[in-house]
Amino acid sequence: MSQEVRGVIARAKGVPVEVTTVVVPDPGPGEAVVRVQACGVCHTDLHYREGGITDDFPFLLGHEAAGIVEQVGAGVTDVEPGDFVVLNWRAVCGTCRACRRGRPWYCFATHNAAQKMTLTDGTVLSPALGIGAFVEKTLVHAGQCTRVDPAARPAAVGLLGCGVMAGIGAAMNTGGVSRGDSVAVIGCGGVGDGAVAGAALAGATTIIAVDTDPRKLEWARRFGATHTVDASQTDPVEAIRELTGGFGADVVIEAVGRPETWKQAFYARDLAGTVVLVGVPTPEMKVPELPLLDVFGRGGALKSSWYGDCLPSRDFPMLTSLYLQGRLDLDAFVTEEIALDQVEEAFTKMHRGDVLRSVVIF
Ligand SMILES: NC(=O)c1ccc[n+]([C@@H]2O[C@H](COP(=O)([O-])OP(=O)(O)OC[C@H]3O[C@@H](n4cnc5c(N)ncnc54)[C@H](O)[C@@H]3O)[C@@H](O)[C@H]2O)c1
Ligand SMILES: [Zn+2]
Ligand SMILES: [Zn+2]
Repeated sequence: MSQEVRGVIARAKGVPVEVTTVVVPDPGPGEAVVRVQACGVCHTDLHYREGGITDDFPFLLGHEAAGIVEQVGAGVTDVEPGDFVVLNWRAVCGTCRACRRGRPWYCFATHNAAQKMTLTDGTVLSPALGIGAFVEKTLVHAGQCTRVDPAARPAAVGLLGCGVMAGIGAAMNTGGVSRGDSVAVIGCGGVGDGAVAGAALAGATTIIAVDTDPRKLEWARRFGATHTVDASQTDPVEAIRELTGGFGADVVIEAVGRPETWKQAFYARDLAGTVVLVGVPTPEMKVPELPLLDVFGRGGALKSSWYGDCLPSRDFPMLTSLYLQGRLDLDAFVTEEIALDQVEEAFTKMHRGDVLRSVVIF
């Protein structure tokens, strides 16, 4: 048995996305079918459409989603039909070398559904980040379903499924921000503002938001930025040093994904400070030239952050609680709610910087 539903696919490189019929198989062992309620439009969906991730077209896009479990396959015990879940792209295996050492957030063998969703002619779809959620119903591995409090608004908590979690975790997990720290965040889109919010939750007392777009700086204040720097007008390295007693920030988070902003992060941090690269570079980008003595002499740590080093089963319910208590404003990330056939328009708005997140509502 299978079902036919509507979904958004990218058929070929650079071609506008389209709504079409997607065939969703019944869940096999270890799998689940989820009725999607909301799915955010992430920059990574656009990277897929532009062929920047792999060439496995056609893609079923969308991966920042919340919904209701509708069916589960044999052997599934963690979730059952009716559960409200946020989908994750880190269904940990429990047996790889990272999991065995008690560091499952680095899991090197995460699970995806074994069966494939297809077009009506049988063409196999590649689901974005192993999820594919711009679709009325999606087939995932049951481990990709993380139960959270059903009182939460799907459009808001669904964003924990990717960009907002990546930002919060870049600050709290990878950067290890702690109370009294100074933090600078370069690039304040959905991911960077997640990092601002994560730094605030962790108790940082100075949080400097850096962007080239003044609207983004305005928005960053809502998540806890104490200072803002317009990098189109001011040298951000000097500005960050000035705001931190001349020293630089304890943790600098790069949320753009470019060599020049990574270099700014390198020099805007205090001695023994930490740089976290959470922005995703393109294949041709290189580490900027730096005196090796500066790398050595300044000490500290240069890290990168995949999905904010999150563990969905630990972090999604915790962050959902903070949201429901009014301590994490996930609603403020939702700039607009859109329909399934407006994903292409949402890409244009993202490019212009008009939105933090457009969220498809089903
Ligand atoms: N590491 C992960 O797990 C993960 C997860 C999701 C997204 N990402 C990546 O994070 C990055 C940000 O994603 P997003 O959704 O927030 O994108 P976005 O386009 O919404 O935000 C990028 C921000 O950077 C700003 N910016 C651009 N150039 C700048 C400069 N020179 N100096 C300062 N600011 C500048 C833009 O004005 C914008 O506000 C992307 O590269 C995305 O692929 C990483
Ligand atoms: Zn593992
Ligand atoms: Zn994403």
